[in-house]
Amino acid sequence: MNIQTVVTQPFSDQKPGTSGLRKKVPIFKQPNYLENFIQSIFDSLEGFSGQTFILGGDGRYYNRQAIQIILKMAAANGVGRMLVGQGGILSTPAASCIIRKNQAFGGIVLSASHNPGGPEEDFGVKYNISNGGPAPEKVTSAIYECSKVIDSYKIIEARNINLDQLGSQKIGEMRVEVIDSVADYAELMESLFDFSKISELLRSGKFKMCIDSLHAVTGPYAKNIFEQLLGAPVGTVQNGMPLEDFGGGHPDPNLVYAHDLVEIMFGDNAPDFGAASDGDGDRNMILGKNFFVTPSDSLAILVANAKLVPGYSSGLAGIARSMPTSAAADRVAEKMGLDCYETPTGWKFFGNLLDADKATLCGEESFGTGSNHVREKDGLWAVLFWLNILAARQESVEDIVKEHWKTYGRNYYSRHDYEGIESDKANTLMENLHSLLPSLPGKQYGQYEVRYADDFSYTDPIDGSISQKQGIRIGFSNGSRIVFRLSGTGTQGATLRLYVESYEPDANKQDQDTQVKLSPLVSLADEIAQIKNITGREKPTVIT
Ligand code: G1P
Ligand code: ZN
Repeated sequence: MNIQTVVTQPFSDQKPGTSGLRKKVPIFKQPNYLENFIQSIFDSLEGFSGQTFILGGDGRYYNRQAIQIILKMAAANGVGRMLVGQGGILSTPAASCIIRKNQAFGGIVLSASHNPGGPEEDFGVKYNISNGGPAPEKVTSAIYECSKVIDSYKIIEARNINLDQLGSQKIGEMRVEVIDSVADYAELMESLFDFSKISELLRSGKFKMCIDSLHAVTGPYAKNIFEQLLGAPVGTVQNGMPLEDFGGGHPDPNLVYAHDLVEIMFGDNAPDFGAASDGDGDRNMILGKNFFVTPSDSLAILVANAKLVPGYSSGLAGIARSMPTSAAADRVAEKMGLDCYETPTGWKFFGNLLDADKATLCGEESFGTGSNHVREKDGLWAVLFWLNILAARQESVEDIVKEHWKTYGRNYYSRHDYEGIESDKANTLMENLHSLLPSLPGKQYGQYEVRYADDFSYTDPIDGSISQKQGIRIGFSNGSRIVFRLSGTGTQGATLRLYVESYEPDANKQDQDTQVKLSPLVSLADEIAQIKNITGREKPTVIT
Protein backbone atom coordinates (compact mmCIF):
# COMPACT_ATOMS: atom_id res chain seq x y z
CA MET A 1 0.00 0.00 0.00
CA ASN A 2 1.43 3.33 -1.01
CA ILE A 3 0.31 6.03 1.41
CA GLN A 4 1.74 9.42 0.61
CA THR A 5 2.05 12.34 2.97
CA VAL A 6 1.82 15.50 0.91
CA VAL A 7 3.12 18.76 2.34
CA THR A 8 0.60 21.58 2.11
CA GLN A 9 -0.19 25.04 3.45
CA PRO A 10 -3.42 26.26 4.99
CA PHE A 11 -6.04 28.22 3.06
CA SER A 12 -7.58 30.94 5.19
CA ASP A 13 -11.12 30.64 3.77
CA GLN A 14 -12.24 27.14 4.74
CA LYS A 15 -14.81 28.12 7.34
CA PRO A 16 -18.00 26.10 6.75
CA GLY A 17 -21.13 28.27 6.39
CA THR A 18 -24.84 27.58 6.98
CA SER A 19 -24.44 24.27 5.15
CA GLY A 20 -20.85 23.12 4.65
CA LEU A 21 -18.03 24.69 2.66
CA ARG A 22 -19.25 26.23 -0.59
CA LYS A 23 -16.98 27.82 -3.15
CA LYS A 24 -16.71 28.30 -6.87
CA VAL A 25 -15.33 25.25 -8.70
CA PRO A 26 -12.06 27.02 -9.71
CA ILE A 27 -11.37 27.61 -6.01
CA PHE A 28 -12.00 23.95 -5.16
CA LYS A 29 -9.79 22.93 -8.07
CA GLN A 30 -6.75 24.84 -6.82
CA PRO A 31 -3.94 22.43 -5.92
CA ASN A 32 -4.54 21.00 -2.43
CA TYR A 33 -7.73 22.99 -1.75
CA LEU A 34 -10.19 20.09 -1.60
CA GLU A 35 -7.52 17.84 -0.09
CA ASN A 36 -6.83 20.32 2.74
CA PHE A 37 -10.50 20.51 3.66
CA ILE A 38 -11.01 16.74 3.56
CA GLN A 39 -7.88 16.18 5.66
CA SER A 40 -9.14 18.83 8.11
CA ILE A 41 -12.37 16.81 8.47
CA PHE A 42 -10.38 13.66 9.31
CA ASP A 43 -7.99 15.61 11.58
CA SER A 44 -10.94 16.93 13.56
CA LEU A 45 -12.45 13.46 14.13
CA GLU A 46 -11.42 10.81 16.61
CA GLY A 47 -11.93 7.07 16.73
CA PHE A 48 -12.96 6.53 13.12
CA SER A 49 -10.25 4.08 12.17
CA GLY A 50 -11.80 1.00 10.53
CA GLN A 51 -15.27 2.57 10.60
CA THR A 52 -17.91 2.99 7.88
CA PHE A 53 -18.55 6.30 6.11
CA ILE A 54 -20.99 7.33 3.37
CA LEU A 55 -20.00 9.36 0.30
CA GLY A 56 -22.03 10.84 -2.52
CA GLY A 57 -23.27 14.06 -4.03
CA ASP A 58 -25.81 15.82 -6.16
CA GLY A 59 -24.04 14.98 -9.43
CA ARG A 60 -22.90 18.49 -10.19
CA TYR A 61 -19.71 19.32 -12.07
CA TYR A 62 -16.61 18.06 -10.19
CA ASN A 63 -18.65 15.49 -8.20
CA ARG A 64 -16.93 12.45 -9.74
CA GLN A 65 -13.41 13.86 -9.59
CA ALA A 66 -13.85 14.93 -5.97
CA ILE A 67 -15.17 11.49 -5.04
CA GLN A 68 -12.04 9.78 -6.44
CA ILE A 69 -9.80 12.10 -4.41
CA ILE A 70 -11.85 11.65 -1.24
CA LEU A 71 -11.84 7.85 -1.59
CA LYS A 72 -8.03 7.80 -1.81
CA MET A 73 -7.72 10.12 1.15
CA ALA A 74 -10.22 8.15 3.22
CA ALA A 75 -8.27 4.95 2.56
CA ALA A 76 -5.01 6.67 3.54
CA ASN A 77 -6.59 7.99 6.74
CA GLY A 78 -7.73 4.55 7.89
CA VAL A 79 -11.43 4.50 7.02
CA GLY A 80 -12.57 0.86 6.99
CA ARG A 81 -15.48 0.91 4.59
CA MET A 82 -16.96 3.55 2.33
CA LEU A 83 -20.48 3.29 0.89
CA VAL A 84 -20.71 5.35 -2.30
CA GLY A 85 -23.86 6.06 -4.28
CA GLN A 86 -23.81 4.65 -7.82
CA GLY A 87 -22.40 7.19 -10.25
CA GLY A 88 -21.46 9.25 -7.22
CA ILE A 89 -25.14 10.13 -6.75
CA LEU A 90 -26.78 10.49 -3.36
CA SER A 91 -29.41 13.04 -2.54
CA THR A 92 -28.81 14.77 0.78
CA PRO A 93 -31.78 13.07 2.50
CA ALA A 94 -30.76 9.69 1.04
CA ALA A 95 -27.23 10.17 2.40
CA SER A 96 -28.75 10.89 5.81
CA CYS A 97 -30.95 7.79 5.53
CA ILE A 98 -27.99 5.58 4.58
CA ILE A 99 -25.76 6.89 7.39
CA ARG A 100 -28.49 6.01 9.88
CA LYS A 101 -29.37 2.65 8.38
CA ASN A 102 -25.74 1.49 8.39
CA GLN A 103 -24.87 3.10 11.72
CA ALA A 104 -22.01 4.78 9.91
CA PHE A 105 -19.51 7.00 11.68
CA GLY A 106 -20.40 9.87 9.34
CA GLY A 107 -20.73 10.92 5.76
CA ILE A 108 -19.35 13.36 3.25
CA VAL A 109 -21.98 14.96 1.05
CA LEU A 110 -20.85 16.85 -2.04
CA SER A 111 -23.31 19.55 -2.92
CA ALA A 112 -23.88 23.24 -3.20
CA SER A 113 -27.60 22.58 -2.87
CA HIS A 114 -29.64 25.01 -4.94
CA ASN A 115 -26.69 26.99 -6.31
CA PRO A 116 -25.93 26.59 -10.05
CA GLY A 117 -23.34 24.01 -11.15
CA GLY A 118 -20.68 23.93 -13.86
CA PRO A 119 -16.98 24.67 -14.36
CA GLU A 120 -17.37 28.29 -13.21
CA GLU A 121 -20.21 27.70 -10.77
CA ASP A 122 -20.51 26.32 -7.25
CA PHE A 123 -19.32 23.20 -5.50
CA GLY A 124 -19.60 22.22 -1.87
CA VAL A 125 -18.53 19.73 0.77
CA LYS A 126 -20.51 18.98 3.88
CA TYR A 127 -19.71 16.64 6.73
CA ASN A 128 -22.58 14.76 8.41
CA ILE A 129 -22.29 13.04 11.77
CA SER A 130 -23.49 9.61 12.89
CA ASN A 131 -27.10 10.71 13.47
CA GLY A 132 -27.22 11.44 9.73
CA GLY A 133 -27.43 15.18 10.19
CA PRO A 134 -25.19 18.10 9.29
CA ALA A 135 -22.27 18.51 11.68
CA PRO A 136 -23.18 20.87 14.50
CA GLU A 137 -21.22 24.06 15.06
CA LYS A 138 -18.72 22.56 17.46
CA VAL A 139 -17.70 20.04 14.79
CA THR A 140 -17.59 22.56 11.94
CA SER A 141 -15.51 24.91 14.13
CA ALA A 142 -13.09 22.09 14.88
CA ILE A 143 -12.76 21.39 11.13
CA TYR A 144 -12.11 25.07 10.52
CA GLU A 145 -9.46 25.19 13.27
CA CYS A 146 -7.70 22.18 11.69
CA SER A 147 -7.84 23.87 8.27
CA LYS A 148 -5.96 26.87 9.66
CA VAL A 149 -2.95 24.86 10.82
CA ILE A 150 -2.82 21.95 8.38
CA ASP A 151 0.67 21.18 7.06
CA SER A 152 0.17 17.86 5.26
CA TYR A 153 -2.49 15.47 4.02
CA LYS A 154 -2.56 11.74 3.40
CA ILE A 155 -3.53 10.12 0.14
CA ILE A 156 -3.05 6.68 -1.29
CA GLU A 157 -1.71 5.98 -4.75
CA ALA A 158 -4.32 3.81 -6.44
CA ARG A 159 -6.37 3.58 -9.58
CA ASN A 160 -9.78 5.21 -9.79
CA ILE A 161 -12.79 3.25 -8.59
CA ASN A 162 -15.50 2.42 -11.13
CA LEU A 163 -18.37 4.43 -9.65
CA ASP A 164 -20.95 3.04 -12.05
CA GLN A 165 -20.60 -0.61 -11.18
CA LEU A 166 -22.55 -1.80 -8.15
CA GLY A 167 -20.62 -4.00 -5.73
CA SER A 168 -17.51 -4.14 -3.65
CA GLN A 169 -14.04 -2.96 -4.63
CA LYS A 170 -10.92 -2.12 -2.63
CA ILE A 171 -8.57 0.82 -2.28
CA GLY A 172 -5.65 -0.23 -0.10
CA GLU A 173 -7.22 -1.74 3.01
CA MET A 174 -10.50 0.16 2.59
CA ARG A 175 -13.56 -1.55 1.16
CA VAL A 176 -15.54 0.60 -1.26
CA GLU A 177 -19.13 -0.48 -1.81
CA VAL A 178 -20.94 1.16 -4.69
CA ILE A 179 -24.59 1.02 -3.68
CA ASP A 180 -27.94 1.68 -5.34
CA SER A 181 -28.56 5.40 -4.75
CA VAL A 182 -32.34 5.05 -4.44
CA ALA A 183 -33.31 1.69 -2.87
CA ASP A 184 -32.83 2.41 0.87
CA TYR A 185 -34.48 5.79 0.58
CA ALA A 186 -37.48 4.46 -1.36
CA GLU A 187 -37.92 1.73 1.25
CA LEU A 188 -37.95 4.32 4.04
CA MET A 189 -40.59 6.35 2.20
CA GLU A 190 -42.74 3.26 1.78
CA SER A 191 -42.59 2.69 5.52
CA LEU A 192 -43.94 6.18 6.30
CA PHE A 193 -46.68 6.81 3.75
CA ASP A 194 -49.80 5.04 2.58
CA PHE A 195 -48.45 3.99 -0.82
CA SER A 196 -51.57 2.06 -1.78
CA LYS A 197 -53.85 5.05 -1.15
CA ILE A 198 -51.50 7.40 -3.02
CA SER A 199 -51.17 4.91 -5.84
CA GLU A 200 -54.95 4.64 -6.13
CA LEU A 201 -55.15 8.42 -6.47
CA LEU A 202 -52.39 8.55 -9.08
CA ARG A 203 -53.88 5.72 -11.12
CA SER A 204 -57.49 6.95 -10.83
CA GLY A 205 -57.22 9.03 -13.98
CA LYS A 206 -58.92 11.86 -12.08
CA PHE A 207 -55.76 13.34 -10.63
CA LYS A 208 -52.83 14.71 -12.59
CA MET A 209 -49.49 15.74 -11.21
CA CYS A 210 -46.18 17.06 -12.46
CA ILE A 211 -42.84 16.72 -10.68
CA ASP A 212 -39.90 18.84 -11.83
CA SER A 213 -36.47 17.55 -10.84
CA LEU A 214 -34.74 20.51 -12.52
CA HIS A 215 -32.06 18.19 -13.97
CA ALA A 216 -30.77 17.68 -10.47
CA VAL A 217 -30.35 14.77 -8.10
CA THR A 218 -33.99 13.83 -7.45
CA GLY A 219 -34.60 12.61 -11.03
CA PRO A 220 -33.79 8.94 -10.38
CA TYR A 221 -35.50 9.01 -6.97
CA ALA A 222 -38.67 10.62 -8.29
CA LYS A 223 -38.92 8.32 -11.31
CA ASN A 224 -38.50 5.27 -9.13
CA ILE A 225 -40.95 6.35 -6.43
CA PHE A 226 -43.69 8.11 -8.42
CA GLU A 227 -43.58 6.38 -11.79
CA GLN A 228 -42.42 2.87 -10.90
CA LEU A 229 -43.58 2.23 -7.32
CA LEU A 230 -46.70 4.40 -7.26
CA GLY A 231 -47.71 3.96 -10.90
CA ALA A 232 -47.95 7.57 -12.03
CA PRO A 233 -47.76 7.81 -15.84
CA VAL A 234 -44.29 7.87 -17.36
CA GLY A 235 -43.46 11.53 -17.99
CA THR A 236 -44.89 12.66 -14.66
CA VAL A 237 -41.29 13.50 -13.70
CA GLN A 238 -39.86 16.16 -15.96
CA ASN A 239 -36.20 17.21 -16.25
CA GLY A 240 -35.44 13.91 -14.54
CA MET A 241 -31.92 13.34 -15.81
CA PRO A 242 -29.25 14.70 -13.42
CA LEU A 243 -26.85 16.90 -15.41
CA GLU A 244 -23.53 18.32 -14.27
CA ASP A 245 -24.70 21.87 -14.94
CA PHE A 246 -28.40 21.24 -14.21
CA GLY A 247 -29.06 22.06 -17.87
CA GLY A 248 -27.76 25.57 -17.27
CA GLY A 249 -30.57 26.23 -14.81
CA HIS A 250 -30.67 27.31 -11.21
CA PRO A 251 -31.87 24.21 -9.31
CA ASP A 252 -33.85 26.12 -6.71
CA PRO A 253 -37.51 25.19 -6.36
CA ASN A 254 -39.22 28.54 -6.14
CA LEU A 255 -41.55 30.58 -8.33
CA VAL A 256 -38.63 32.29 -10.05
CA TYR A 257 -36.27 29.43 -10.88
CA ALA A 258 -38.73 26.55 -11.39
CA HIS A 259 -40.36 28.51 -14.22
CA ASP A 260 -41.18 25.50 -16.48
CA LEU A 261 -43.26 23.99 -13.70
CA VAL A 262 -44.81 27.32 -12.77
CA GLU A 263 -45.94 27.83 -16.37
CA ILE A 264 -47.60 24.41 -16.38
CA MET A 265 -49.23 24.82 -12.99
CA PHE A 266 -50.53 28.31 -13.74
CA GLY A 267 -51.44 27.57 -17.37
CA ASP A 268 -54.61 26.24 -18.99
CA ASN A 269 -55.58 22.69 -18.01
CA ALA A 270 -53.08 22.75 -15.18
CA PRO A 271 -52.52 19.49 -13.28
CA ASP A 272 -53.95 19.13 -9.77
CA PHE A 273 -50.59 18.99 -8.07
CA GLY A 274 -47.06 20.10 -8.89
CA ALA A 275 -43.78 19.96 -7.04
CA ALA A 276 -40.11 20.64 -7.57
CA SER A 277 -36.98 19.98 -5.57
CA ASP A 278 -33.49 21.46 -5.54
CA GLY A 279 -29.97 20.44 -6.60
CA ASP A 280 -29.41 17.94 -3.77
CA GLY A 281 -33.04 17.00 -3.13
CA ASP A 282 -33.62 18.45 0.30
CA ARG A 283 -35.90 21.33 -0.71
CA ASN A 284 -39.44 21.26 -2.06
CA MET A 285 -41.96 23.59 -3.60
CA ILE A 286 -45.62 22.59 -3.50
CA LEU A 287 -48.13 23.89 -6.03
CA GLY A 288 -51.79 23.23 -6.62
CA LYS A 289 -53.75 24.07 -9.77
CA ASN A 290 -53.02 27.80 -10.16
CA PHE A 291 -51.96 27.92 -6.56
CA PHE A 292 -48.69 28.34 -4.64
CA VAL A 293 -48.27 27.02 -1.10
CA THR A 294 -45.74 29.02 0.92
CA PRO A 295 -43.23 26.75 2.66
CA SER A 296 -44.25 28.19 6.03
CA ASP A 297 -47.90 27.32 5.36
CA SER A 298 -46.86 23.92 4.07
CA LEU A 299 -45.21 23.08 7.40
CA ALA A 300 -48.31 24.21 9.30
CA ILE A 301 -50.57 22.10 7.07
CA LEU A 302 -48.40 18.99 7.42
CA VAL A 303 -48.55 19.37 11.20
CA ALA A 304 -52.31 19.88 11.21
CA ASN A 305 -52.86 16.82 8.99
CA ALA A 306 -50.19 14.48 10.34
CA LYS A 307 -52.80 12.14 11.79
CA LEU A 308 -53.76 11.16 8.21
CA VAL A 309 -50.28 9.81 7.49
CA PRO A 310 -49.38 6.34 8.81
CA GLY A 311 -45.82 7.24 9.88
CA TYR A 312 -47.12 10.11 12.04
CA SER A 313 -50.64 9.06 12.97
CA SER A 314 -49.70 8.12 16.52
CA GLY A 315 -48.93 11.76 17.32
CA LEU A 316 -46.12 14.27 17.18
CA ALA A 317 -43.62 14.88 19.99
CA GLY A 318 -43.42 18.56 19.08
CA ILE A 319 -42.46 20.73 16.16
CA ALA A 320 -39.68 23.17 15.27
CA ARG A 321 -39.20 25.96 12.77
CA SER A 322 -36.36 28.30 11.96
CA MET A 323 -36.70 31.82 13.29
CA PRO A 324 -37.43 33.56 9.95
CA THR A 325 -40.15 30.99 9.12
CA SER A 326 -43.67 32.34 9.67
CA ALA A 327 -45.60 31.60 12.84
CA ALA A 328 -48.28 29.66 10.92
CA ALA A 329 -47.06 26.37 12.41
CA ASP A 330 -47.00 27.89 15.92
CA ARG A 331 -50.74 28.45 15.71
CA VAL A 332 -51.36 24.82 14.86
CA ALA A 333 -49.00 23.66 17.61
CA GLU A 334 -50.81 25.83 20.11
CA LYS A 335 -54.20 24.34 19.22
CA MET A 336 -52.83 20.82 19.28
CA GLY A 337 -51.01 21.37 22.58
CA LEU A 338 -47.60 20.71 21.03
CA ASP A 339 -44.29 22.34 21.93
CA CYS A 340 -42.96 24.55 19.15
CA TYR A 341 -39.25 25.40 19.03
CA GLU A 342 -37.78 28.40 17.24
CA THR A 343 -34.23 27.75 16.05
CA PRO A 344 -31.66 29.71 14.03
CA THR A 345 -31.54 29.29 10.25
CA GLY A 346 -29.99 26.02 9.06
CA TRP A 347 -31.07 22.40 9.42
CA LYS A 348 -28.24 21.56 11.79
CA PHE A 349 -30.11 23.26 14.63
CA PHE A 350 -32.95 20.73 14.41
CA GLY A 351 -30.66 17.73 14.96
CA ASN A 352 -30.57 17.81 18.75
CA LEU A 353 -34.34 18.34 19.02
CA LEU A 354 -35.00 15.38 16.74
CA ASP A 355 -32.46 13.16 18.52
CA ALA A 356 -33.99 13.99 21.90
CA ASP A 357 -37.49 13.37 20.55
CA LYS A 358 -38.59 16.90 21.35
CA ALA A 359 -39.70 17.53 17.77
CA THR A 360 -41.09 15.27 15.06
CA LEU A 361 -41.71 17.70 12.18
CA CYS A 362 -39.48 20.66 11.31
CA GLY A 363 -39.43 23.31 8.65
CA GLU A 364 -37.84 26.39 7.21
CA GLU A 365 -39.30 29.15 5.06
CA SER A 366 -36.59 28.39 2.48
CA PHE A 367 -38.58 25.49 0.99
CA GLY A 368 -37.33 23.01 3.57
CA THR A 369 -39.49 20.52 5.43
CA GLY A 370 -38.63 17.27 7.15
CA SER A 371 -39.07 15.00 10.13
CA ASN A 372 -37.33 12.60 12.45
CA HIS A 373 -37.14 9.96 9.67
CA VAL A 374 -33.71 11.38 8.72
CA ARG A 375 -31.65 14.34 9.96
CA GLU A 376 -31.85 16.47 6.82
CA LYS A 377 -34.75 18.26 5.26
CA ASP A 378 -36.31 16.13 2.59
CA GLY A 379 -37.91 17.33 -0.64
CA LEU A 380 -39.59 14.15 -1.91
CA TRP A 381 -40.72 13.25 1.60
CA ALA A 382 -42.68 16.53 1.65
CA VAL A 383 -44.18 15.75 -1.76
CA LEU A 384 -45.28 12.32 -0.53
CA PHE A 385 -46.69 13.82 2.67
CA TRP A 386 -48.82 16.17 0.58
CA LEU A 387 -49.92 13.36 -1.74
CA ASN A 388 -50.90 11.28 1.27
CA ILE A 389 -53.01 14.17 2.61
CA LEU A 390 -54.59 14.76 -0.81
CA ALA A 391 -55.38 11.04 -1.17
CA ALA A 392 -56.93 10.94 2.29
CA ARG A 393 -58.94 14.17 2.06
CA GLN A 394 -59.88 14.05 -1.65
CA GLU A 395 -59.85 17.87 -1.78
CA SER A 396 -57.81 20.24 -3.89
CA VAL A 397 -54.58 21.83 -2.66
CA GLU A 398 -56.20 25.25 -2.74
CA ASP A 399 -59.24 24.11 -0.74
CA ILE A 400 -57.04 22.50 1.89
CA VAL A 401 -54.92 25.65 2.30
CA LYS A 402 -57.91 28.00 2.41
CA GLU A 403 -59.68 25.80 4.90
CA HIS A 404 -56.52 25.89 7.00
CA TRP A 405 -56.44 29.71 6.94
CA LYS A 406 -60.07 29.84 8.02
CA THR A 407 -59.30 27.72 11.03
CA TYR A 408 -55.96 29.18 12.07
CA GLY A 409 -55.76 32.57 10.37
CA ARG A 410 -53.42 33.39 7.51
CA ASN A 411 -49.82 34.44 7.94
CA TYR A 412 -49.11 36.45 4.80
CA TYR A 413 -45.44 35.88 4.18
CA SER A 414 -42.68 36.77 1.74
CA ARG A 415 -38.89 36.84 1.53
CA HIS A 416 -37.04 39.49 -0.46
CA ASP A 417 -33.44 38.69 -1.36
CA TYR A 418 -30.84 41.25 -2.38
CA GLU A 419 -28.16 39.03 -3.89
CA GLY A 420 -24.55 39.85 -4.64
CA ILE A 421 -24.36 43.16 -2.81
CA GLU A 422 -20.94 44.37 -1.69
CA SER A 423 -20.01 42.83 1.62
CA ASP A 424 -19.02 46.07 3.32
CA LYS A 425 -22.36 47.65 2.42
CA ALA A 426 -24.23 44.66 3.78
CA ASN A 427 -22.21 44.78 6.98
CA THR A 428 -22.82 48.51 7.38
CA LEU A 429 -26.56 47.94 6.98
CA MET A 430 -26.59 45.22 9.64
CA GLU A 431 -24.39 47.23 12.02
CA ASN A 432 -26.62 50.30 11.67
CA LEU A 433 -29.67 48.17 12.38
CA HIS A 434 -27.93 46.69 15.35
CA SER A 435 -27.27 50.06 16.91
CA LEU A 436 -30.89 51.10 16.33
CA LEU A 437 -32.30 48.11 18.22
CA PRO A 438 -32.46 49.59 21.75
CA SER A 439 -34.37 52.66 20.51
CA LEU A 440 -37.07 50.76 18.58
CA PRO A 441 -39.42 49.15 21.14
CA GLY A 442 -42.50 51.32 21.69
CA LYS A 443 -41.88 53.37 18.54
CA GLN A 444 -44.90 54.00 16.31
CA TYR A 445 -44.63 53.83 12.50
CA GLY A 446 -48.11 54.60 11.13
CA GLN A 447 -50.30 51.63 12.07
CA TYR A 448 -47.29 49.67 13.34
CA GLU A 449 -46.07 49.86 16.92
CA VAL A 450 -42.77 48.08 17.64
CA ARG A 451 -43.25 45.51 20.38
CA TYR A 452 -39.73 44.07 20.37
CA ALA A 453 -36.49 44.43 18.45
CA ASP A 454 -33.52 42.14 18.95
CA ASP A 455 -30.74 40.13 17.39
CA PHE A 456 -31.90 36.53 17.67
CA SER A 457 -29.88 34.36 20.00
CA TYR A 458 -30.56 30.67 20.58
CA THR A 459 -29.70 28.46 23.50
CA ASP A 460 -29.92 24.82 22.46
CA PRO A 461 -32.31 23.19 24.97
CA ILE A 462 -30.39 19.91 24.81
CA ASP A 463 -26.70 20.78 25.00
CA GLY A 464 -26.95 24.38 26.20
CA SER A 465 -24.80 25.72 23.35
CA ILE A 466 -25.48 29.34 22.48
CA SER A 467 -25.67 30.73 18.93
CA GLN A 468 -25.73 34.50 18.76
CA LYS A 469 -26.37 37.10 16.04
CA GLN A 470 -28.75 34.90 14.09
CA GLY A 471 -30.77 37.70 12.51
CA ILE A 472 -32.48 40.95 13.49
CA ARG A 473 -36.14 40.66 14.39
CA ILE A 474 -38.54 43.56 14.68
CA GLY A 475 -41.97 42.52 15.90
CA PHE A 476 -45.08 44.70 15.96
CA SER A 477 -48.03 44.70 18.31
CA ASN A 478 -50.44 43.49 15.59
CA GLY A 479 -48.44 40.29 15.11
CA SER A 480 -46.56 41.52 12.03
CA ARG A 481 -42.82 41.02 11.88
CA ILE A 482 -39.80 41.92 9.78
CA VAL A 483 -36.50 40.06 9.95
CA PHE A 484 -33.14 40.91 8.43
CA ARG A 485 -30.22 38.55 8.06
CA LEU A 486 -27.24 37.94 5.84
CA SER A 487 -27.04 34.65 3.97
CA GLY A 488 -24.47 32.11 5.07
CA THR A 489 -24.52 30.04 1.89
CA GLY A 490 -23.59 32.50 -0.87
CA THR A 491 -20.26 32.38 -2.69
CA GLN A 492 -20.13 35.92 -4.06
CA GLY A 493 -20.47 39.19 -2.14
CA ALA A 494 -23.30 39.23 0.38
CA THR A 495 -26.97 38.43 0.20
CA LEU A 496 -29.36 40.37 2.38
CA ARG A 497 -32.56 38.53 3.20
CA LEU A 498 -35.61 40.49 4.31
CA TYR A 499 -38.44 38.35 5.68
CA VAL A 500 -41.87 39.97 6.04
CA GLU A 501 -44.91 38.55 7.76
CA SER A 502 -48.38 39.78 8.63
CA TYR A 503 -51.12 37.87 10.42
CA GLU A 504 -54.75 38.00 9.22
CA PRO A 505 -57.32 36.13 11.32
CA ASP A 506 -60.34 37.49 9.39
CA ALA A 507 -61.47 34.89 6.84
CA ASN A 508 -62.89 37.65 4.63
CA LYS A 509 -59.48 39.25 4.26
CA GLN A 510 -57.44 36.18 3.41
CA ASP A 511 -57.62 36.45 -0.37
CA GLN A 512 -55.39 39.43 -0.96
CA ASP A 513 -52.27 39.43 -3.11
CA THR A 514 -49.32 38.73 -0.82
CA GLN A 515 -47.05 41.48 -2.13
CA VAL A 516 -49.86 44.06 -2.02
CA LYS A 517 -50.77 43.05 1.51
CA LEU A 518 -47.15 43.21 2.66
CA SER A 519 -46.09 46.37 0.82
CA PRO A 520 -46.52 48.72 3.82
CA LEU A 521 -44.22 46.45 5.84
CA VAL A 522 -41.70 46.27 3.01
CA SER A 523 -41.62 50.09 2.86
CA LEU A 524 -41.22 50.21 6.61
CA ALA A 525 -38.32 47.75 6.42
CA ASP A 526 -36.65 50.05 3.92
CA GLU A 527 -37.30 53.08 6.10
CA ILE A 528 -35.76 51.42 9.14
CA ALA A 529 -32.83 49.66 7.43
CA GLN A 530 -32.22 52.13 4.58
CA ILE A 531 -31.83 49.24 2.15
CA LYS A 532 -32.07 51.32 -1.03
CA ASN A 533 -29.77 54.04 0.24
CA ILE A 534 -27.06 51.75 1.53
CA THR A 535 -27.08 49.03 -1.13
CA GLY A 536 -27.99 51.26 -4.08
CA ARG A 537 -30.53 48.64 -5.10
CA GLU A 538 -34.00 49.75 -6.14
CA LYS A 539 -35.53 46.31 -5.67
CA PRO A 540 -34.72 42.76 -4.58
CA THR A 541 -33.25 40.23 -7.03
CA VAL A 542 -35.53 37.39 -5.94
CA ILE A 543 -38.91 37.49 -4.21
CA THR A 544 -40.33 34.25 -2.86
C1 G1P B 1 -30.27 29.15 3.14
C2 G1P B 1 -31.65 29.15 3.77
C3 G1P B 1 -31.66 28.25 4.98
C4 G1P B 1 -31.21 26.85 4.59
C5 G1P B 1 -29.87 26.92 3.88
C6 G1P B 1 -29.44 25.57 3.34
O1 G1P B 1 -29.33 29.64 4.05
O2 G1P B 1 -32.05 30.45 4.11
O3 G1P B 1 -32.94 28.23 5.53
O4 G1P B 1 -31.11 26.02 5.70
O5 G1P B 1 -29.93 27.83 2.78
O6 G1P B 1 -30.34 25.06 2.41
P1 G1P B 1 -28.78 31.15 4.02
O7 G1P B 1 -28.23 31.39 2.65
O8 G1P B 1 -29.98 32.03 4.28
O9 G1P B 1 -27.76 31.23 5.12
ZN1 ZN C 1 -30.47 21.66 -0.88
